[in-house]
Amino acid sequence: MNHGTEFSLGALAAVCAACFTNPLEVVKTRMQLQGELKARGHYTVFYRNTFHALYTVAKYDGLRGIQSGLAPALGYQISMNGTRLGSFQIMVDMGLTDGVDCTFCGFLRTLLAAGLSGAVSNAVGSPFFMIKTHIQCKTDSKIAVGYQHTHKTMYQAVKEIVGHDGVKGLWRGASAGTLRGFIGSAAQLGAFTSTKKYFIFKEARNKCNIYHIFVEDSMMISILASMVGGISLAFFMTPFDVVCIRLYNQRTTESGKGMYYKGISDCFRKTYRSEGIAGLYKGWEPALIRIWPHTVLCLVFWDCFRDAYYKWNKSKA
Ligand SMILES: *[C@@H]1O[C@H](CO)[C@@H](O)[C@H](O)[C@H]1NC(C)=O
Repeated sequence: MNHGTEFSLGALAAVCAACFTNPLEVVKTRMQLQGELKARGHYTVFYRNTFHALYTVAKYDGLRGIQSGLAPALGYQISMNGTRLGSFQIMVDMGLTDGVDCTFCGFLRTLLAAGLSGAVSNAVGSPFFMIKTHIQCKTDSKIAVGYQHTHKTMYQAVKEIVGHDGVKGLWRGASAGTLRGFIGSAAQLGAFTSTKKYFIFKEARNKCNIYHIFVEDSMMISILASMVGGISLAFFMTPFDVVCIRLYNQRTTESGKGMYYKGISDCFRKTYRSEGIAGLYKGWEPALIRIWPHTVLCLVFWDCFRDAYYKWNKSKA
């Protein structure tokens, strides 16, 4: 199988997985906007935890509600992850990640490459992420959190935003997305690579220890490394994610300026001041839960598609 096919099947698998995990994105967006700039106890909690939130969204908004923003979510998934993997590969090919004699410097270079590819790709996919945020937060007034934009579909959103602020309006808040992308990608890939290396080195040192089972079946290492990568992602990225969601969603004045926050550091400061550290970690729970089904589904779909592709190829010959 050539690289192009491999890549397309991977992307298709990720898109299919995202269809199943989108409800968790909806819930995360709502939880991150809940109680915005209010101290604990000074607002009604509509979404108590991930499962309660899924139930509440389904009850008020129905099935369409729990799958809201699916179109921009898939657009984001394809444009962002596609650019991310592509640009990371380019940096690897350019030798950015090798040619050093100390392991730690090599690791730092890998982190840098991952961070840069995360930054570039999130700048590219920023409009999708912003529109996804607007649509996923829009709901019945009885359970509404955050500023409610008027558009309900991706098409309406693009028309309205471009009509109001021009094409550059689609990239409003993109600097926050870029920063979030840098941190997220470095945190995830850094943890992923170290976990993989850890198990492989352990194996080399001691042939008959328990890590052996992971090496026999490298699929297990992949799953485990993805999980550790995901945990690291949720831990390091959530505060940047909260800030990003709030900047993307905030109401704007006639001249296109944000009404609540002036920028990234202002949003960090205001959120921390009124909601504390817990405010900056809102939505960590659905973010963490999402990783399990997402990783497993990606691998399962990928396996199915590769299988189907082989069979189809054979039948052609
Ligand atoms: C992009 O890919 C990574 C790793 O495969 C995954 O954890 C992440 O959820 C994907 N992003 C989106 C927006 O689906």
